[in-house]
Amino acid sequence: MPDPTTQSNYLAIASQHVDLVWELDWTKKAITGHATHSAIVNEDGVQEFIVDTLFLDIHKVEVEGESAPFTVGNHHEVMGSPLRISLKQPQSAGTKLSIRIVYETTKDCTALQWLDKEQTAGRLFPYLFSQCQPIHARSLVPLQDSPSVKITWAASVTSVLPVLLSAIRVSPPSTGPAHDGKEIGKESVVYTYKQPVPIPSYLIAIASGNVRYKPFETVPGKDWTTGVWAEPEVIDAAHWEFCEDTPKFMIEAEKLAIPYKFGVYEMVVLPPSFPYGGMENACLTFLTPTLLSGDRALVDVVAHELQHSWFGNGVTQADSSHFWLNEGWTTYMERMLLRVLHGQEERDFSFLMDFKSLQDSLKQYEDRPKYQRLVIDFEYGEDPDDAYSKIPYEKGSNFIYYLERSLGGPEVFLPYVKDYVSTYIGKSINTFQWKDHLFSYFKQHNPSLVADVLDKIDWNAWFYGEGLKLPEEYAFDTTLAEEAFALAARWDTSRLVADPSTVGFKKSDVEAFNTNQKIVFLERLQVLAPLPKAHIDLLGDVYGFRSTLNVELRFRYYELALASPAGPSIKEEVAEWVVDEEFKSGGVKGRMKFCRPTFRGLKKVDEGLAKKTFEGSRERFHPIARRLIQKDLGLI
Ligand code: BES
Ligand code: ZN
Repeated sequence: MPDPTTQSNYLAIASQHVDLVWELDWTKKAITGHATHSAIVNEDGVQEFIVDTLFLDIHKVEVEGESAPFTVGNHHEVMGSPLRISLKQPQSAGTKLSIRIVYETTKDCTALQWLDKEQTAGRLFPYLFSQCQPIHARSLVPLQDSPSVKITWAASVTSVLPVLLSAIRVSPPSTGPAHDGKEIGKESVVYTYKQPVPIPSYLIAIASGNVRYKPFETVPGKDWTTGVWAEPEVIDAAHWEFCEDTPKFMIEAEKLAIPYKFGVYEMVVLPPSFPYGGMENACLTFLTPTLLSGDRALVDVVAHELQHSWFGNGVTQADSSHFWLNEGWTTYMERMLLRVLHGQEERDFSFLMDFKSLQDSLKQYEDRPKYQRLVIDFEYGEDPDDAYSKIPYEKGSNFIYYLERSLGGPEVFLPYVKDYVSTYIGKSINTFQWKDHLFSYFKQHNPSLVADVLDKIDWNAWFYGEGLKLPEEYAFDTTLAEEAFALAARWDTSRLVADPSTVGFKKSDVEAFNTNQKIVFLERLQVLAPLPKAHIDLLGDVYGFRSTLNVELRFRYYELALASPAGPSIKEEVAEWVVDEEFKSGGVKGRMKFCRPTFRGLKKVDEGLAKKTFEGSRERFHPIARRLIQKDLGLI
């Protein structure tokens, strides 16, 4: 089955390398320039090269240096328009062609958000960033937008603001003066980058704004470097949050898999409208500023994005139907890192923490059970963004954890993991190729496990099972969650008392908790029957959940409050908070994990308010978030 989300003819002729020459036009809010593909013909008789585009203006096409006829097909709502380029005469297999497309982006390009200066921490310069996964790369570059196609690329980008790309900086040096010593915002600098490792198109990314670099300590004997980019106002906090753990994660991750292939592992902390927690763009992970909680409690997102370097960026899903191979494996490995660095209890705590998000996602899709599956057979043109949820992450990682336990634990399983990565690194695979390798590995290394374990697993239940339950559920170690559970139980029984201030709840109840324990506490309350209004009010005040700048906590408190009798009295406050642009209070809550459930919660209390709030502030959200919130609110 070819990738159902692309209109390109990548099987007949495949792009192998792309050279990008871009100029950032900050006034017009457009990227202008050209993309030159080096493509190889795979079948005799190929007469056209078809690439995906989404809201791009195509100016001109050249094949082998000569102007070539092209057509831009009808716009498909999800997949965009196929750009069909004629190749003059039928080509024979093995032929290599150079195809240049001159184009520019438009205001509708779904990958890009151009922020005004007021939407940044420094408020002095505008900002641009992209989000290409799953199928938005086609609105940044005309290309064959399928993860089954892996390409190397290089770029030269001219801009009056520093430019970051998901590749290796060639010039000017990252550690040199910002913007090559030129005046930021006024003078142009040409930034050049190269990506010599073949990657899927969804890992192409750009960020540009007033950013600075701060490296982490180098690790002796390693040829990779790590560090963080952010606006000057945020760089020290960003450096502190990640400097301890990132190099450690790298060292252990290499031991678990194979050496890191991408040369540099940098990250950039983006403005608050970034729609995800993290995005594993090659060489340059993109991060939400909501990770800067000041206690390093949310660094597991870095562990996750780093693990994608092997699971996703190295071994890649063939298409969106096998998204769980990227995310389920990465989540499993992220937690394996926790086990190596902090012990088994931390690993189980992490599984436990996300179990509620799995249940929430499964419930959310009760009307579309297809999206409760691990392997989702997408129809041609179906939108993978509609299926995005925690299910591939949590069902997937629970599945692999179950395999690990069934096969005899990490000692038996980890050597297999290494073999899996080494076998498929650089390739794009589907679920069946993954399963074939699993069987052949154990057949070779421990044949009794094939008959005793693998043959007995209910593969169909895991791959295609629907409903709210996993085929096998596991009782995780709850040691690290006990105190949070106990405090939640105290609040639960306090509902019998009309005036909760007489119960003796104190700020010190949670003082020894880190962010993750507080999250577990709030989530435990969320699954219990709603508390009375007086209790919800006290909870917000006594522990500071109603005023904290920690978005993970404030968001969960608001979710809890909206679903309780306190909903009508707090709805206005929540509405203001979610679209708030004030940087001091965390800015817009653009991360979809926060804004989507908040809007859905508001809708349940006051649909008119939810719609009005969104519509008055839609430009603050990234185009991808904008579209999904509109769908959630029934606006489209
Ligand atoms: N690759 C994902 C983000 C993504 C997936 C973007 C699909 C668009 C389409 C990234 O690695 C991710 O999983 N981010 C999580 C972090 C987490 C699970 C630790 C997020 O953003 O919440
Ligand atoms: Zn991920």
